[in-house]
Amino acid sequence: MNRKWWQDAIIYQLYIRSFKDSNNDGIGDFQGIISKLDYLSDLGVNAIWISPHYESPMDDNGYDISDFYKVSKDYGTIEDVKELIKKAHKLNIKIIFDLVLNHTSDEIEWFKAAKDPNHKDHEKYHDYYIWQPPKYNGKGERVMPTQWRSWFGGPVWEYNEATNEYYLHIFSKKMPDLNWRNEDMKNDLKKMTKWWIDLGVDGFRVDASNHLEKNWDFPEGHPGYENFSSIPKHHEYLEEMGTEVFYPNDVFTMGESGGASKEEAIKYCGFENKEFDMLIHFGHCWADGDWDNKITPGKWAKGKIDVKSIKHSFDRWFKMLKGKGWNIIYWHNHDQPRVLSHYGNDSEYYNESSKMLAYTLYFMPGTPIVYQGEEIGMTNVDYEDLNDFRDVEVFTEYDNFISLGATHEVAMQALRDRSRDNARSPFQWDNSVNSGFSEVTPWMNTVKNYTEINLEKQRKDPNSLFNTYKSIFKLRKDEMINNGYIKFIDIDNEDSYTYINETENAIFLIVANFRNFDISVYLDINIENYINIYYNYSVRELTKNIELKPYEALVFKLNK
Ligand code: GLC
Ligand code: CA
Repeated sequence: MNRKWWQDAIIYQLYIRSFKDSNNDGIGDFQGIISKLDYLSDLGVNAIWISPHYESPMDDNGYDISDFYKVSKDYGTIEDVKELIKKAHKLNIKIIFDLVLNHTSDEIEWFKAAKDPNHKDHEKYHDYYIWQPPKYNGKGERVMPTQWRSWFGGPVWEYNEATNEYYLHIFSKKMPDLNWRNEDMKNDLKKMTKWWIDLGVDGFRVDASNHLEKNWDFPEGHPGYENFSSIPKHHEYLEEMGTEVFYPNDVFTMGESGGASKEEAIKYCGFENKEFDMLIHFGHCWADGDWDNKITPGKWAKGKIDVKSIKHSFDRWFKMLKGKGWNIIYWHNHDQPRVLSHYGNDSEYYNESSKMLAYTLYFMPGTPIVYQGEEIGMTNVDYEDLNDFRDVEVFTEYDNFISLGATHEVAMQALRDRSRDNARSPFQWDNSVNSGFSEVTPWMNTVKNYTEINLEKQRKDPNSLFNTYKSIFKLRKDEMINNGYIKFIDIDNEDSYTYINETENAIFLIVANFRNFDISVYLDINIENYINIYYNYSVRELTKNIELKPYEALVFKLNK
C-alpha cells in the first residue's frame, strides 16, 4: 500500500463548542477555530477532527442532527466552513468531520414524517427508524418491547402515541436510531456524505460505528447491549459505505468501536479492507473502574488504576494490526475524564504526572490523537452545583445514583470524577475573564484553575507541558516515531510503564512510574549508549536497576 498522509499525522481533536468563541455569544464556533489555526500549526498538528457541527437542537451537543446539510447557527455558516478548509489547507492541516450515521435528532424532517401517520411522507420515512409494537402485561397494561437500557441510562424505548409504537434509541430519547436495513435511508446518508466530501473535507470520524445493526428479534435482555453492539452485519454496512463512498473519493476515515477481536479489527481497518483506515477503540480508557460498586455503577466509580491492563490493551492492538493495519494512540476524548485527573495527579504531582503521561503515550508508534486542552494539562471540572453540568447523560445518571442510595455529595463526586463534561469545559487560553475563551459567560463554566493553568503562561515557560508537547511532536515527525516497532518491557509489572520503540534510525526507551510512590524497575536489556533526552525530575544515566520517584518518567535515545 502507498503511504498515506494520515500515517504520518498528528491529529488534534477539537470540541468546537468549547474551543474559542469569536462573536461573544458564549459558544465556540468556526471563526474561533480559524482564529487559532496558527496556534494549532505551531503546536505541530496536521489534522483536526471537529466534533459535530451540523444543525442540531443540541440535546447531545450536536450528535443529535436535525439537518445534515446545514451548519449549526451556534457555530457559523457554510461559508465559514469553506474558509476554514481553505485556510487550514494552506497550513497543511487536514479537516476531519464527525459523521453521525447511527441516529438523528427527533427534530429532523425524516423523523417528523416517520412518527406522524398524517404526514404526507409518512410511508417513506416511517421505516427509516426502528419501531416495535407495545407489549401488555398480565393486567393488560402497556409495557415496553424489551428492558434494554440506553447508553445514557434509562430505557432504549420511547412511546409514540400517534402510531401506538415504540421507537428505539440507544442514546438519548431525542436521538432515534436509524434503520440500516432500509435502502432509501442508506442512500440518503451516502448522498449526504458525498456532499461534504465535495465541499473539500479530508476525512471523517464515524460515530458509534459498531452499533448500526440491531438484533431484530428483539429478545429480552437487561441491559441488553449485545443486541445493538458489534453485531456482525454492521460490517456489511461499513464496507458498503467504504466501497461506495469513502474509498472511491480517497477520504480518510476512522471508526469508533468499543472492542474487537483480531479478525474484526482487520475487517475494520486492515490495509486490504475497505471499511475504515483506522479504528478508535477503548481498551485502555477505563482502567480504574470499581466495577462492583452498586451505588454509582458502571464507569462511574473510581478504583485503583490497573496499569497492566493499559499496557496490555495497547500491546494487543499493536500485535493484532502489525503489518496488517495502522494503529491510533490517544489518552482520552470528549467522552472521558481529563487524562491528567484520571490517570495522573492534578494536584501534588501536576507537573510530574502530566509529563509522565506525555512521554508514555507519545513515544509509541501509530497515529496520535491529542485532545483539546490535554497539551496544557487541563483538569476535570470543579463544579459544586448539579446545574453547572451540561451533559444529557449526567442528569439521567444522577437520578439513577440517588435511586440506588447515593447521597447528593457522592453523586456529585462521581460526576466530577467520571462525567463527560470533564473534557468539555472551555479551553484555557489565558488568565483574563472566562479564560480568554469568550467575553461573556460561556455555555459551560470555565474551570477556576485557569488563572494558573493556561496557554499564555505555558508558552513563556520552556519547561511547560505545552512546550514539552510541542517538542515531542516535532521529534515525532523528525524521527518518524509513528512508524516504529514497540516492545513492552516487563509488561506485567503493576506500577511501571516501560517500552522500547525502534524506528529506522534510533531506539527510544521509555521508563516511567505510573504511581504516586517510589518504585524500582529492572531493565533486562542492553543499556549501553542510551542518552536521556526527556525527564520530569532531573537528567539520569541509564542503569539496569533504576529507582523512580512518584510519576518519574524518562525517555532515552540510542542512535543506530
Ligand atoms: C459517540 C460519541 C458521543 C455521543 C454518542 C452518540 O459515542 O463519541 O459523544 O454521545 O456517540 O452520538
Ligand atoms: Ca460564538
